[in-house]
Amino acid sequence: MRILIIHGPNLNMLGRREQSVYGKKTLAEIDALLNAEAQALKVEVVSFQSNHEGALVDFIQEQAGSAQGIVINPGALTHYGYSLRDALADSRLPIIEVHLSNIHCREEWRARSVIVSIAEGQISGLGWRGYVAALRSLVGELQPGASDKAV
Ligand code: DQA
Repeated sequence: MRILIIHGPNLNMLGRREQSVYGKKTLAEIDALLNAEAQALKVEVVSFQSNHEGALVDFIQEQAGSAQGIVINPGALTHYGYSLRDALADSRLPIIEVHLSNIHCREEWRARSVIVSIAEGQISGLGWRGYVAALRSLVGELQPGASDKAV
């Protein structure tokens, strides 16, 4: 099983960017944790980050056919990224939306997601652990029993 891990704009700056909001871990550290979790779950993860919406759309179009699910933190594109939303919808894959911060407790405009209506669910405010929870949930749903065995 192959799961795409997609990170949107500015997430390459994690570790340096607003640590009190987004935490101390770098994106490479989060990807390493996801790789370790994927090994425990016996699945493959492919991570991709871009600051450009079109590059994210290209990646989804290229990879969706050989993947079974998507974990995505769309960054600010969460709030207005319609072409990203359409590419995700077109992939027809189960999607979990992740946010490091709790987007419902910040500026009003951050609470709105144009992605969540096509997602299985949204994890917001649990920091890096939210990504791991999303991966476990997605794999558990696609492959019943897999994430329970890894506990
Ligand atoms: C974010 C929340 C977004 O509002 C913001 O633009 C980000 C990160 C989060 O992970 O909390 O870039 O998606």
